[in-house]
Amino acid sequence: MTSPIGRETDRVDGPLKVTGGARYAADHRPEGLLHGYLVQATVGKGTVRAMDVSRAEAAPGVVAVFTPFRPLPLNPPGPQQSGENYSALQDTSVRFRGQVIGVVVADTAEHARDAAALVTADYAVAPARTSLADAGPGASTGVLQKLAPDVASIEAALASSPVTVTTTVSQNAQHHIAMEPHGTTSVWVDDQLTVYMGAQAPQQAAATIASRLGVDATKVRVICRYTGGGFGQRSPVWNEALLCAAAARALGRPVKLVLSREQVFTAIGHRAAVRQTIRLGARTDGTLLALAHDTDGELPAAGGWRMLPGRDTSAVTYRTPNIRIDQRLVTLDTPPTWSMRAPAEAPGMFALETAMDELAVATEVDPVELRLRNYATEDPIEGRRFSTKHLDECYRIGAERFGWGKRQARPRSRTDGDWLVGMGMASAIYPAWRQPASARARFRDDGRVLVSSATSDLGTGALTMLAVIGADELGLPVGEVVSELGDSTLPPGGVGAYGSSVTTSTVPAVQAACRAAVAALVRAAVDNPRSPFTGRDPATVRYRRGRVESGGRSVDYGTLLRAMGVPHVEAVGDTGPPDNPSQCRFHCFGAHFCEVRVHRLTGEPRVSRVTSVFDVGKVVNAKATRGQLMGSVIWGIGHALLESDPIERNGRFAAATLADYLVPVHADTPDIDVHWLDRPDPHISELGAKGLGEIGLVSTAAAIGNAVFNATGVRVRDLPITLDKLL
Ligand code: MOS
Repeated sequence: MTSPIGRETDRVDGPLKVTGGARYAADHRPEGLLHGYLVQATVGKGTVRAMDVSRAEAAPGVVAVFTPFRPLPLNPPGPQQSGENYSALQDTSVRFRGQVIGVVVADTAEHARDAAALVTADYAVAPARTSLADAGPGASTGVLQKLAPDVASIEAALASSPVTVTTTVSQNAQHHIAMEPHGTTSVWVDDQLTVYMGAQAPQQAAATIASRLGVDATKVRVICRYTGGGFGQRSPVWNEALLCAAAARALGRPVKLVLSREQVFTAIGHRAAVRQTIRLGARTDGTLLALAHDTDGELPAAGGWRMLPGRDTSAVTYRTPNIRIDQRLVTLDTPPTWSMRAPAEAPGMFALETAMDELAVATEVDPVELRLRNYATEDPIEGRRFSTKHLDECYRIGAERFGWGKRQARPRSRTDGDWLVGMGMASAIYPAWRQPASARARFRDDGRVLVSSATSDLGTGALTMLAVIGADELGLPVGEVVSELGDSTLPPGGVGAYGSSVTTSTVPAVQAACRAAVAALVRAAVDNPRSPFTGRDPATVRYRRGRVESGGRSVDYGTLLRAMGVPHVEAVGDTGPPDNPSQCRFHCFGAHFCEVRVHRLTGEPRVSRVTSVFDVGKVVNAKATRGQLMGSVIWGIGHALLESDPIERNGRFAAATLADYLVPVHADTPDIDVHWLDRPDPHISELGAKGLGEIGLVSTAAAIGNAVFNATGVRVRDLPITLDKLL
């Protein structure tokens, strides 16, 4: 049987997902269920002086209304816990517009929602700091710098460079827009809590909920068999989920709390607004002499993820003798921020790759050639070699597939009717990360193998990946392997589904578990008195493609287990980070080539073609890989052309629905040619997968922006690139 690795494998949960059989967090309907609905602050900053809940309490079906004046007890977050830095309802402070100030619980979701609209609050309003654009430089998080021995400062290096380019780019908040809005169903049975929720890291979520509710960690189970999208926002546990569990405890009945689409915009974190300046110094042939990257990222007072966009971009991408990166954070009274797919890399590489395109224009060097002239084989600050790097191959293959040779360097050179046509490209980079991981493999007497890991499938295909790896390792058809994940009670050591690391990290653990399970099966076969192999020398017994064999006798594992009267034999595999004796750096790479059309009269920009080529190591499932990479590239169209949520002075997001916060739809999306090199990284693991969930989004916006410049001669540095900026 040929290995299933790298082939096109259908999702094992596909039929369940398309027939409604997959149950998401809000699909659970336990007996006696009540429904919660959030009440959110309508001022940007201040305190709640009083709330009138009398009309809500008298409304049909209402069971309880919780507010800061009738709180649900929650502990403050621990120092290691991510997300917001406070617990809702524990005080009367309003930290941002949209902060939870109440929960209405009723017999139906509609009753809870209607009653929530009857709650009024009286505020003492304070001025809110909401504008990153108006804020000066933030507080530095520390400078990353490397200078050549004879260079006094980055300023000196830039000043002595024959060619310099300065680019300041900016973008507003962006939102996660998962298909499944956040929702939680909490069920207490005695002192045991089960929470159905979308979680990127079910075990960490269970630990957080236990600590915030003040119960023992063994008392909380988080179940997320299916999750409708998680791009970072499902890594922390937000106040909405904690309040749902606390309300269920207070009322002694199960509670479900689902956010409206609008509430998702404020009750969970967004990608921080960020402003960045890149200064490049180069020789006239485009060789880099200096690179300065200064960033100011939004950091809400209510807590959130720190936007540090230079660290994994300018610090590692090009060979540069002098680099200085200063990443600053600006405290604002805005809703919490959180990491969002390629969280720092997407904005960081938009800045760097836009600046590189400006350098290509200034030096009249072809953009691909410019990048080859500055190709790095080690990271320029620390001097560590990359484990594997085939970015040059990505450039070559991408340029060929795309037809880069037909590009004309001079802007406004090509038209097609009323459309100006341009081409642009950009390099992508994203860290490859292997976490310590655990998995379990279990031979069952029904002739199936169960592979389990307490990680999560956000829609990426992780569940299928477990089956493919188990099948490959055990020499079985994929259909004979049952996989499970998304449950905090599965063996400890499940990895969080973030940082594009699930496959990279979990594959070695599944392989180790399968190997240990085979050893356990062989041992059982010689030890068990009812086994046909009883008493044989284990060295003469071997497992091969689902069968245990010795001395001409061959029995499949299901038959063997039934003969032995043993329902299953299992083993757990634990694996650590990669052995890295040479201290190399692990990264994925890619190159995007993009064609855009901009209407001569209306300025409307359209992406008409994209070719993207990636070096992501070994690929497990070609179908899922194409989906992940293509989905990310489409997200990049949103980054470049559509997604933006400015915050008004009163602290309100200007857009908070899918009617006004635009994401790419089919009509915005051309055929996208995604391609990957089949080059395993032997340093990261035996299989050599480097991870591919996020890199497709990195630099796509820059390739589009560079193509827009090539089409129009207009450089748009404030995203998104909308038609008003092109007229
Ligand atoms: Mo993703 S931002 O690594 O959850």
